[in-house]
Amino acid sequence: MKSISEIRKDYQKGSLNFQETPEFPIDFFKQWLNAAIESKVEEPTAFTLSTTDDHGDPVSRVVLLKEVNENGLIFFTNYQSQKGKNIETNHNVYLNFFWPELERQVRVKGIAQKLESEKNDEYFYSRPISSQASAIISNQSQTIDESEELQLAVDKLVSDPEKIKRPDNWGGYLITPNYFEFWQGRPSRIHDRLAFNKLGTRWKKSRLSP
Ligand SMILES: Cc1cc2nc3c(=O)[nH]c(=O)nc-3n(C[C@H](O)[C@H](O)[C@H](O)COP(=O)(O)O)c2cc1C
Repeated sequence: MKSISEIRKDYQKGSLNFQETPEFPIDFFKQWLNAAIESKVEEPTAFTLSTTDDHGDPVSRVVLLKEVNENGLIFFTNYQSQKGKNIETNHNVYLNFFWPELERQVRVKGIAQKLESEKNDEYFYSRPISSQASAIISNQSQTIDESEELQLAVDKLVSDPEKIKRPDNWGGYLITPNYFEFWQGRPSRIHDRLAFNKLGTRWKKSRLSP
């Protein structure tokens, strides 16, 4: 097997025009997200979400972005999962989108807060019925018996849809961003990086060294 230290890629798909980037990072984020979707990037909405546990230690996992609006970024989960508990004690979260096909990364820091129940219902009931059922039967992140038959439990609920109701512990978070960083890979590791820091009500742009 080739040594991993020899695996190397020269990035050359694009560059960042610092003068022409939008004033608001959310607009730039939407442009890049659309480009990722249009370029048929595998899982364009997937991002790594980092939280901290009770000891302040970092914890990461992948989740899916479900909405972007002028207030921020939304994903859905179980509020009693590990990430839910982490957010309860520390609302500060860090997001990382990596779109390898475009040689792009976006980092976002923000504050997570639960969505209101109407919004949770709206998205929950728009999901396929089997996904609704699996959200109901899963105590996400709890230890379970190896022999537990999750599929059977889902099938049972799907065959009796009147029992399907969004659990109170399932819903979304809105992440209100206070930092964005856009990274575009460039030849010879002279990558382009553009940061946006929220200062009061305005955003300050700065170019970062690769
Ligand atoms: C591509 C991908 C998408 C995922 N999307 C979600 C999601 O939107 N919501 C979610 O709760 N978990 C999602 N997961 C599972 C999480 O990565 C994680 O296993 C789960 O949420 C439990 O995390 P926790 O124990 O840190 O709370 C996804 C995993 C992958 C690989």
